[in-house]
Amino acid sequence: MLRNLRLHVEKDYSSMSQQAAEIFAAAVRANAITAAKTANPRPAYGFATGSTPVGMYKELILMHKSGNVNLSNITAFNLDEYYPISPTDPQSYRVFMRENLFDAVGTPPENTYIPDGQAKDPIAECAAYDEKISKAGGIYMQILGIGNNGHIGFNEPGASLMATTWHTPLAQATIDANARNFASVNDVPRHALTMGMHSIMMAKQILLLASGEGKAEILHKALCGPITTNVPASLLQLHNDVIIVADQAAARLL
Ligand code: GLP
Repeated sequence: MLRNLRLHVEKDYSSMSQQAAEIFAAAVRANAITAAKTANPRPAYGFATGSTPVGMYKELILMHKSGNVNLSNITAFNLDEYYPISPTDPQSYRVFMRENLFDAVGTPPENTYIPDGQAKDPIAECAAYDEKISKAGGIYMQILGIGNNGHIGFNEPGASLMATTWHTPLAQATIDANARNFASVNDVPRHALTMGMHSIMMAKQILLLASGEGKAEILHKALCGPITTNVPASLLQLHNDVIIVADQAAARLL
């Protein structure tokens, strides 16, 4: 494994979540001090959805409430949103983030950005999203999960990848995997708006979480296999500051 990837292997999901929350909170504390002296006093962080980071978000809420970290003073950019979807739909990533983190830590809604799943002009919405990230001074730390097929955000495996935020069809494997959160597979939106590979890779640091036996093979491919558009997460090998926090089951093949 490359030297620019720092790997933490934790016993189980709970210790993975705790370790990831501690790493994230340490970054927030450190950046708050430096950012206070800059034009962007609310440093931006990148958030992910999916089941993997939920435990980490729970830990962060506890840390926030006990005064260990202040998450009300950050700017948040989410990786992606289904398209089309209403921001009040229980399956939207907007609702997911409010329920799993933002409401509990009081991050003001005007500082939490998620692509608009109802945008009339999705292409313009994507361009505006990258512009907002850049105006916020870029992302200090981007939290990532990994899809079973190696996607990050909703950048699906294929012959090519996109650089900036874009309007993407979802892979059938992703529709099937995410159907568990919807009444039926037919209710899963067929598209999404997602930060592209460059938008993700521009983050100063990447914090990737992986849990469970089901992620072992793809995590191994992503970190130790060839860099290929067929495994979008493998491009992280080209980033110079990646922290992986995995439980033993997910790290089994590393
Ligand atoms: C989703 C999200 C990704 C997430 C992935 C894995 O579709 N777009 O950001 O990392 O799938 O989800 P999980 O953590 O539930 O395995």
